Amino acid sequence: MEKLSEKEKGLIRDSWESLGKNKVPHGIVMFTRLFELDPALLTLFSYSTNCGDAPECLSSPEFLEHVTKVMLVIDAAVSHLDDLHTLEDFLSNLGRKHQAVGVKTQSFTVVGESLLYMLQSSLGPAYTTPLRQAWLNMYSIVVSAMTRGWAKNGEHKSN
Ligand code: HEM
Repeated sequence: MEKLSEKEKGLIRDSWESLGKNKVPHGIVMFTRLFELDPALLTLFSYSTNCGDAPECLSSPEFLEHVTKVMLVIDAAVSHLDDLHTLEDFLSNLGRKHQAVGVKTQSFTVVGESLLYMLQSSLGPAYTTPLRQAWLNMYSIVVSAMTRGWAKNGEHKSN
């Protein structure tokens, strides 16, 4: 597993300090962007069939629950920057669960773009190139671990 520099860890921790206190609103910004970039992802949520459009879905309790879950995983990663390897089993199992509901590993790239969009719109001028890179590196560690869940299922990881 790759490692983050101390400087990167500091940038991530400092920026998450305020964002992490308001997880759901920031998660909604992230998922609104995700569904703008790839509206087809909306259909992967089985409970989304009753939603007319993304804003409607994003205000439904089931969706908000998933938004909260995603933000809690990010929160766990930020809390474990010094020992991210301890999340390996949890994250690879989480990947396996996403494979089971029809998510493709490529979609995590779009999720990453949406995460950066949320950081940029929330942090404003504090969103610098080193900060963006630090978050990208952390996200890539999380996604690599989740992607190993696909391989565990005996399928090619790019499926
Ligand atoms: C392509 C984007 C994604 C899609 C379409 C997606 C879809 C789903 C679906 C359909 C479920 C099962 C129903 C539910 O619990 O709401 C689920 C569960 C979950 N998702 Fe996602 N997800 C995505 C990205 C993520 C990401 C990036 C994370 C965290 C980094 C995440 C964290 C979770 C967690 C923690 C659960 C609960 C797993 C459990 O029940 O043990 N999801 N996701």
